[in-house]
Amino acid sequence: MEKKKRLVKIWDVKHMFESSLIIFFIIGALTTTAVYYVNTDEQYTSPASPATVAHSPSVYDSLEGCDLFSGKWVHDNDSYPLYKEQDCPYIPGEFACGQYGRMDSKYQQWRWQPHACSLPRFDAKQVLEKLRGKRIMFVGDSVNRNQWVSIVCMLQAVIPPGRKKMHKIQEVKQVQDVSLLTFKAFDYDVSIDFYWAPLLVESNADHPTKHKRTDRIVHIHSIEKHAKNWVNADVLVFNSYLWWGTPTLKILYDSLEDSTKYNVVTNHRAYRMVLRIWSKWVRTHINHARTQSYFMSMTATHHKGIDWGMQDNENCLNETEPVTKEHFWESGSDLKMMRTLELTLKNLKERGVDVKMVNITQLTQYRKDGHPSIHRCPRYLE
Ligand SMILES: *[C@@H]1O[C@H](CO)[C@@H](O)[C@H](O)[C@H]1NC(C)=O
Ligand SMILES: *[C@@H]1O[C@H](CO)[C@@H](O)[C@H](O)[C@H]1NC(C)=O
Ligand SMILES: *[C@@H]1O[C@H](CO)[C@@H](O)[C@H](O)[C@H]1NC(C)=O
Repeated sequence: MEKKKRLVKIWDVKHMFESSLIIFFIIGALTTTAVYYVNTDEQYTSPASPATVAHSPSVYDSLEGCDLFSGKWVHDNDSYPLYKEQDCPYIPGEFACGQYGRMDSKYQQWRWQPHACSLPRFDAKQVLEKLRGKRIMFVGDSVNRNQWVSIVCMLQAVIPPGRKKMHKIQEVKQVQDVSLLTFKAFDYDVSIDFYWAPLLVESNADHPTKHKRTDRIVHIHSIEKHAKNWVNADVLVFNSYLWWGTPTLKILYDSLEDSTKYNVVTNHRAYRMVLRIWSKWVRTHINHARTQSYFMSMTATHHKGIDWGMQDNENCLNETEPVTKEHFWESGSDLKMMRTLELTLKNLKERGVDVKMVNITQLTQYRKDGHPSIHRCPRYLE
C-alpha cells in the first residue's frame, strides 16, 4: 500500500515535469530562427513565433491526453509579451530584431491555444523550482539557439542581479571550435546550455560563427566529438533540419582533413544516415534513468510569399500577422525529412528509448510574422 502510493507520487512528479517542459518548448517557439540554405545562395528567415500559455491554473493533469500541437495562435496583448527585448541582456544581434530596425510589435503578442485544452500561464519561478539542480541542454542549429535564448530570457527576469551568469565556453579543437553557451541560475543550481551542432555529427558547419559555406561536408562517423559534451545533461533537446537543405552533401568516412575521399549523397539519404548514427549514440551513451530527451520537429522558413498569396519573389519580410488558414503548409517544408525523424524516434521507442518529438512544425507554419528577416545584426546578413 505504502509502496504503491509512493510510486504514484513519483509518477505524478515526473509527469508534471514532462508536461511543463513541453509547454515551455512551445513557449520557446517564440523566436525560431531558420537559416535556410539553397545551393550557392543563402537566405535568412526566422519565425519568431511569439509564445504561448493561457491563464488557466497550472494543473498539468488536465493536459493528459490533450494534443498540445494541434491548435491556433490567438492574439493576447493583456499578458504578452512575456518579456521585452531590451530587458533581456542575453539576446545576440542575430535575434535582436527590435534593435535592428523592426518597428512592429504585434508578433510578440500571440498565445498558442491548443484545440483541446488550455496551457497554464508561464510562471518563471515555478519553472525554475521544477528544474532545481538540473542541467538542460539544447543541441542543434540556430533554431534551437533561439529556443534557448527565449527560455533564458523568460526565466532570467525573476533572478536578481548577481545570482545568474552567462558563460561562453569555447574550446579550440584541432579542426574547428566547439561552442557551448551556458546560463546559470545560482540559487536554483540550474544550468541551461546551448551546444552548436547543426548537423549533429562533425561537419564543416561546426564553427559557431564562421560557417557560411555552401558545400556541406559531414564526417559521418564522428559524433563523439560533439556528443561527449552532451552526456551530463538531465534534459537534452535536439534539433537538426535546416542545414540539410542542400540537395546533396559530401559524406566523409575518414577525417575532415582527408577530404579527398568522400561520397556525394542526397540530403535525405545523408539525414537518414546521420539520424541512425545519432540514435545509436543516444541508445548507448545516455543514462535514460537520469536524462529525458526531446527532438524538435522541423520549422517553417517562409521564404516563398506565393505560398500565402504574395508575389513569387516576396518572402516573409514585412509580414506582421500570422497565417490564419488552418493547416497552412508552405511548399518548401520537407515532409519526407519529418517522416525520417518520426521513424527514427519510433525505432528508438521500440528499443525502449523514449525520445519525445516536440511537434512544433504546424505551429511554426502559421508564423510568417515571426522571422527577424533583415532585422538583425549585419554580420548575420552577409
Ligand atoms: C505533428 O502535428 C501535426 C499537427 O499539428 C499532426 O498532423 C502530425 O500527425 C503530428 N505528428 C506526430 C508524429 O505527432
Ligand atoms: C490590444 O489589442 C486590441 C485588439 O486585439 C486593441 O483593440 C487594443 O488597443 C490593444 N491594446 C493595447 C494596449 O495595445
Ligand atoms: C518593406 O517595408 C519597407 C518599409 O515600409 C519598404 O520600403 C519595402 O519596400 C518593403 N519590402 C517589401 C518586400 O515589401
